[in-house]
Amino acid sequence: MTNSPLAGSPFVARQSKDLLIEQVPLSTLTTTYGTPLFVYSKAAMLSALAAYQRGFAGRNARICYAMKANSSLAVLQVFAQAGCGFDIVSGGELARVIAAGGDPGKVIFSGVGKTRAEMQQALRAGIACFNVESEAELEVLSEVAHALEMRAPVSIRVNPNVDAKTHPYISTGLKDNKFGVAHERALQTYQRAAQLHGLEVVGIDCHIGSQITDVSPYLDAMDRVLDLVDAIERSGITLKHIDFGGGLGIDYNMPVDNELPPSADDLWRALLAKLDARGYGQRQLMIEPGRSLVGNAGVCLTTVEYLKPGELKNFCIVDAAMNDVPRPAMYEAFHQITPLALRDTESVVYDVVGPVCESGDWLGRDRSLAVEAGDVLAILSTGAYCMAMASNYNTRGRAAEVLVDGNKWHLIRRRETAQDLMACESLIPNTP
Ligand code: LLP
Repeated sequence: MTNSPLAGSPFVARQSKDLLIEQVPLSTLTTTYGTPLFVYSKAAMLSALAAYQRGFAGRNARICYAMKANSSLAVLQVFAQAGCGFDIVSGGELARVIAAGGDPGKVIFSGVGKTRAEMQQALRAGIACFNVESEAELEVLSEVAHALEMRAPVSIRVNPNVDAKTHPYISTGLKDNKFGVAHERALQTYQRAAQLHGLEVVGIDCHIGSQITDVSPYLDAMDRVLDLVDAIERSGITLKHIDFGGGLGIDYNMPVDNELPPSADDLWRALLAKLDARGYGQRQLMIEPGRSLVGNAGVCLTTVEYLKPGELKNFCIVDAAMNDVPRPAMYEAFHQITPLALRDTESVVYDVVGPVCESGDWLGRDRSLAVEAGDVLAILSTGAYCMAMASNYNTRGRAAEVLVDGNKWHLIRRRETAQDLMACESLIPNTP
């Protein structure tokens, strides 16, 4: 094969004047469906999942895909068929799991603000576990389950107070953020849960943040959680499972300070060694990975509309925007950007920006590109937290999505039209 995989995105390869995902030339897809267009590789998703499965070989472990990373139905279908459960954070996500053929019995429900209606919906669907995030939520869940004459399986999300060393917006395990029950209050909260009607304590849970590239915060969090498991079980409450959340980072191939995360199997080799050493190696384990399963399986394709040279900056204006790929605007996140076809002309340094009326609408800064209007660019590593966070700002329809499988592809979401965007709205009566 003459195709060379792109650094950071091993399922995207360059072949003469095009990029390929698996065996499908991306130019074929943009010609057929237009841009902006998200394209995902099924093999990349399954290969990311396989790294976790290798890590857990011979263990009692369940992988619950954190579907907030990418909740498109066909993506969920791929993970459901591969045997995954799902980590959800809303009733809407539960409806998606069911629509995609997922098993509600393998669903765990996270989030600090579950409503009573969402609790009822999840109880009736028979989910595996509620990851409860506060004492107040515990009381409400008890009431809701009791009223339905059901028992809610619960796990309490404990906040281990460790620094995940990631972006402050996506760090969740420190004392000063809204997630979980403080480590010091966890034992009392478990004792309260054990007394309440309508609840059955089944596990313990923690999640310390996202885009974590280092093993040490995980090891620290595990020690803190296992200390609690010791204490909770000494007090007479049995925990069937331990859930270590998600958070493993991906390689975004940043030109400077690129932090390479460990592979999922290496991470779990280290974590399982600690679990074994502390006598918990045979306990049922759960994890909630999101980004690491889909982030590098996706690209966003966008067409250059205009080149706009300026005194201080040159702008490359494309047809994708912050409403399609929100991570740069929200977190100043880096995504690699590369043209589909390479030109022999000299490169110019551009800020790659979208058409949305905000200065924050940028996709890449100071990128050296040899491009002309009409060229197509690929924004890499956009499988996670892009389409799932896309909006309709500026009445822009959300992009179409394609899933590639070998030499075949499927349109898994058509482009939204202006009609779609107005479908829920109504005018008021005209005044004379
Ligand atoms: N479990 C819980 C309870 C979570 O809150 C999250 C992510 C995950 C699992 C999955 O984490 P992952 O494996 O994907 O790191 N929008 C941000 C990321 C927000 C993460 C929110 N919670 C971004 O684009 O970087």
